[in-house]
Amino acid sequence: MPVSKDKLIRGTIVHLTADPSVAGADALEVVEDGALLIRDGRIAAVDGAKTLLAKPDCQQATQYDYRGCYIFPGFIDTHVHYPQVDMIASYGAQLLEWLERYTFPAEIKFSDPVHAAGVADFALSQLFRNGTTTAMMFATVHPISVDAIFEAASRCNMRMITGKVMMDRNCPEKLRDTAEQSYRDSQALIDRWHGTQRLNYAITPRFAPTSSEKQLELAGRLYADNPGVYVQSHVAENQSEVKWVAELYPWSRSYLDVYDHYGLLGDRAVYAHCIHLTSEDLIRMRETQTVAAFCPTSNLFLGSGLFDLNVARESGVRTGMATDVGGGTSFNMLETASEAYKVTQLNGNTVNALQLLYEITLGGARALSLQQHIGNFETGKEADFVVLDPQASELLGRRIELVDTIEEKLFALIMLADDRLTRATHLMGERVYSS
Ligand code: GUN
Ligand code: ZN
Repeated sequence: MPVSKDKLIRGTIVHLTADPSVAGADALEVVEDGALLIRDGRIAAVDGAKTLLAKPDCQQATQYDYRGCYIFPGFIDTHVHYPQVDMIASYGAQLLEWLERYTFPAEIKFSDPVHAAGVADFALSQLFRNGTTTAMMFATVHPISVDAIFEAASRCNMRMITGKVMMDRNCPEKLRDTAEQSYRDSQALIDRWHGTQRLNYAITPRFAPTSSEKQLELAGRLYADNPGVYVQSHVAENQSEVKWVAELYPWSRSYLDVYDHYGLLGDRAVYAHCIHLTSEDLIRMRETQTVAAFCPTSNLFLGSGLFDLNVARESGVRTGMATDVGGGTSFNMLETASEAYKVTQLNGNTVNALQLLYEITLGGARALSLQQHIGNFETGKEADFVVLDPQASELLGRRIELVDTIEEKLFALIMLADDRLTRATHLMGERVYSS
């Protein structure tokens, strides 16, 4: 008899089938003592474990017994910098000084392919340890830094969107490209990587201050000429940065307007931070379907400001959640969601557990236009998931037993989570991390 490649994953299945701000609590599906049946790396069925185990084809499957644990769709980080893992948690500066003092020196080292490959492997191991299975990732200005992270993702068949930083002014000489060279290098990387396995390319002008107008124009041309590629950048993160952009681009109506002018907004464009936008900017974000990546740990750490998730969503702006490591201080999307909750409190608003879980799973998939492939356990989707053991934290284990509803349990789990909870992470059904 041929060996079955099917997998049966047993535990408490938790996922969202819709946006809870629209569908309410019905968006949440929970199967206690449930199981996922995985065939060819995709979800073939979700049901009670006993129901599935009664079926002959399921009995042949390789079984993973995660009873006592929650099984969530893999987390989606919509903005993170792998080259910044070695300068995470650097003291005492806000954005522009932090870039000069810590970030640029760390990124210069990525001219060395051996260094880039080592850091890429380490960063992916950190993502998996924290249950993240898809990332929209910054590399550095060096094309080989893109090869390094795509190669690492390719080896484990991870979903990854990344691109070469375009940066031709206001940065150290060793990190500076030219408008034309960055155009040619980006196009060559698109041709090499975009659409292979689960890999997609993002045109990556770092932010308006480090690009000439010519470079932004060429970035816009790349976006227009390469259907399906993404754009990633930063906008309106810090007050001094906003002021600087107004000086560098005196003709612009706002910081966002600079990107708009060069055709860099759109439904595959993801902008980190979006804290200090004008009301007109919010309208342009909605009209163009541009995505705002909310980076709470980074925004707090760098003293950048309080992104208002509720205002963004009420304005019809698409949102995702992001760590922004190394401005952010954790790779963990549950911790990130917990900080998002606290920022929302400071804004005089609230966001419930279902909405937080949505933002880091199905909402993240929608933000990256990947909802056909990932984000929940719909049949046919790629079987990327994380297994979380609440008992791995004594405090959470105790707290979760004392509350009754699944919403209360999920809320406590989000507020008290860290990487100890991750029992396992699977990509397309294959286990890439276990504790
Ligand atoms: N703006 C331009 N570059 C960066 C970066 O690397 N991190 C953050 N947080 N903001 C930026
Ligand atoms: Zn960033």
